[in-house]
Amino acid sequence: MPRIVLGVAGGIAAYKACDLLRLLTEAGHHVRVVPTAAALQFVGAPTWAALSGQPVTADLMADVHEVPHVRIGQQAELVVIAPTTANLLAKAAHGLADDLLTNVLLTARCPVIMVPAMHTEMWEHPATVQNVATLRGRGVLVVEPAVGRLTGADSGKGRMPEPSQILEIVEQVVARRPVDTWGSFDLRGRHVVVSAGGTREPLDPVRFLGNRSSGRQGYALAAAAAARGAVVDLVAANVDLPDPAGVIVTVVETAAQLKDAVLARSVGADAVVMAAAVADFRPSGSADHKLKKGDGAPTVVLEPTDDVLSALVAAKPDHQVVVGFAAETGDSRVGWLEHGREKLERKGADLLVVNEVGDGLAFGTDDNAAVVLSRDGSETEIPRGPKRELAHVVWGIVRDQWLADGWVHPAHPESGQAEHH
Ligand code: CTP
Repeated sequence: MPRIVLGVAGGIAAYKACDLLRLLTEAGHHVRVVPTAAALQFVGAPTWAALSGQPVTADLMADVHEVPHVRIGQQAELVVIAPTTANLLAKAAHGLADDLLTNVLLTARCPVIMVPAMHTEMWEHPATVQNVATLRGRGVLVVEPAVGRLTGADSGKGRMPEPSQILEIVEQVVARRPVDTWGSFDLRGRHVVVSAGGTREPLDPVRFLGNRSSGRQGYALAAAAAARGAVVDLVAANVDLPDPAGVIVTVVETAAQLKDAVLARSVGADAVVMAAAVADFRPSGSADHKLKKGDGAPTVVLEPTDDVLSALVAAKPDHQVVVGFAAETGDSRVGWLEHGREKLERKGADLLVVNEVGDGLAFGTDDNAAVVLSRDGSETEIPRGPKRELAHVVWGIVRDQWLADGWVHPAHPESGQAEHH
């Protein structure tokens, strides 16, 4: 297990960091808490010390003979700062080092995750926007704040994601160590859109035609991309799962709403992954009153919906990678994989993730198995495993496609040009 430094800055969300610390230690991590002096006004050192089993100080001058400001940073294998205040973002962006935590930041050479929490005005202030861009450009994972209730009665963007979702990011970063040459946050600088869940088409005000998609695979894709540094837009249709940390969630219900949301967000995006199960047909005209049993069995007339994937392919800029999903069964004519190959051809997507329905896979489970078909004819088999692992394989293939198309990776400025020499 890697040594984790949990930095805590002085915001009210510091109380949530106690839960995060608890989750981290219960997961078996060794955690050293380094609060700022302001953080200690919200939660006292004894709390951090008791929960972590480690000494706690914010003071640069404590135990100077052990040179903690150098040692803690050098030995860290992951630094997570939750909450990160606007003040700490500013200090880190400029390399200030006036307390233990900011010194640790300058000596650490491991991945750094900052989880901001502040009022919307502070998050949107040009100074903060610039500091976040500086830090991201330098390779820090600055997690996009959630939208929701802030301190006091107001709500908006700036809320710290739930501790369980921050743990999820930490676990994914840890699981990908030792990382490949592109670093832990290999999707940074990229904007991706993921659709998830299953659409519902109303029959009347209380009934709908729907499907069994739980949204888990789409959520795993969104969470994985965010943990690798991408800016992630998630369009969620009827999903009962917590919002992944760092992901911008748009909630939709019907195929038409999903199409509008996905197309709007895909403009300029670097990848769009259609993991949602979108209805192919909807009742033509939903009743505006509840259908009554006494009126007899209704005749439901269906009309086709628009195919979102085809619309994406038609509007797609050159650099954008469009990924479709297909859950298939074999029939008397051809097998499930062959259906997938035909679908890739028909839909014109760059990649199609095909899985066989049945055998306890695909719907509502944590596991999945698939074959990723690429337009260039290559096929990648992903053995049965957690949906999170499948998500990481898909992002790896998408990333390699970007690189092959000449994307200049921020960690390797020569990466894009290599193709042209
Ligand atoms: N899809 C879409 N819009 C629709 C239906 C499906 O964008 N109206 C997308 C799905 O999100 C998925 C892919 O298309 O990524 C394949 O979905 P699937 O239902 O398997 O495709 P269909 O064209 O409906 O094929 P089938 O003939 O098997 O029903």
